[in-house]
Amino acid sequence: MACPTLLCAVFLLYQTQGSSAGTPVFVPTGGDLNLDVSDADFPKTFDLFFWKFKTENVMVTYQPNGEPNIREEYRRRIEVSEKKYSVRLKHLTKGDSGTYVARVTAGKDRILAEYDVTVQDPVSPVDLISDSVSKNSTCNVTAACTTPESSISSSFRCDAKTCYQEGGRSEVNTSGGSLRIYLLAESIICNHSNQVSWLKNETNLRSFCTKIADVSGVSICQVKTFLFSIGLIIMVSAVITVHLLEKLKKQ
Ligand SMILES: *[C@@H]1O[C@H](CO)[C@@H](O)[C@H](O)[C@H]1NC(C)=O
Ligand SMILES: *[C@@H]1O[C@H](CO)[C@@H](O)[C@H](O)[C@H]1NC(C)=O
Repeated sequence: MACPTLLCAVFLLYQTQGSSAGTPVFVPTGGDLNLDVSDADFPKTFDLFFWKFKTENVMVTYQPNGEPNIREEYRRRIEVSEKKYSVRLKHLTKGDSGTYVARVTAGKDRILAEYDVTVQDPVSPVDLISDSVSKNSTCNVTAACTTPESSISSSFRCDAKTCYQEGGRSEVNTSGGSLRIYLLAESIICNHSNQVSWLKNETNLRSFCTKIADVSGVSICQVKTFLFSIGLIIMVSAVITVHLLEKLKKQ
């Protein structure tokens, strides 16, 4: 990465202040992390290259034309990738959250890559409970999405034709994620998500509002009655006509 002097100065200032400037990466607990450095950024000659975790832990070092030297504590978890100078750290736990830096010494010290890694557990399942009141031609439903850590509720309304969510889609932040409740077509949906996973729960809103479903419009039953009546009229007319014709013939 070409780094103008001013940018470097800002970069280093950030670093010394402990703020992160790296690429954010989220990894599920137990997952793997690829630490990549691009060929284009790599200097033609160098003295030493290493991957470092936080500011103090060197994980692996490379010397020109040498094999990578993986530090004892990482020996079981680091896999050297076929791409030169890139490595894979396996089976991450929350303790592996933090900043990873690739640094090369070639006359000057230079950072080639920086990742701000967050290790997250997958989200817990979400419960959806709802309650309804129907009257005349409207139906009110209140629904709540609940996880062990948080909860959110919302009101929905249906008439014979449409359903909507009062106040629109709603969301709360949970630890490192979010919990949302919204209407999609005629389903109430709870979505519990974070950076590494999501789980949903849904229920059909109409199923709570069956009592109002037939209030307006023509029902199947009415159509059947109408067709049956027409048929009956035609039949009766035919019988009467035939009867009258026979009477006329006899005269
Ligand atoms: C539904 O809620 C609205 C207000 O939000 C209220 O005016 C209406 O009476 C309620 N309908 C029923 C059937 O409870
Ligand atoms: C739930 O939320 C996540 C994160 O925003 C999203 O990727 C996913 O598609 C959503 N799932 C559904 C069913 O809406």
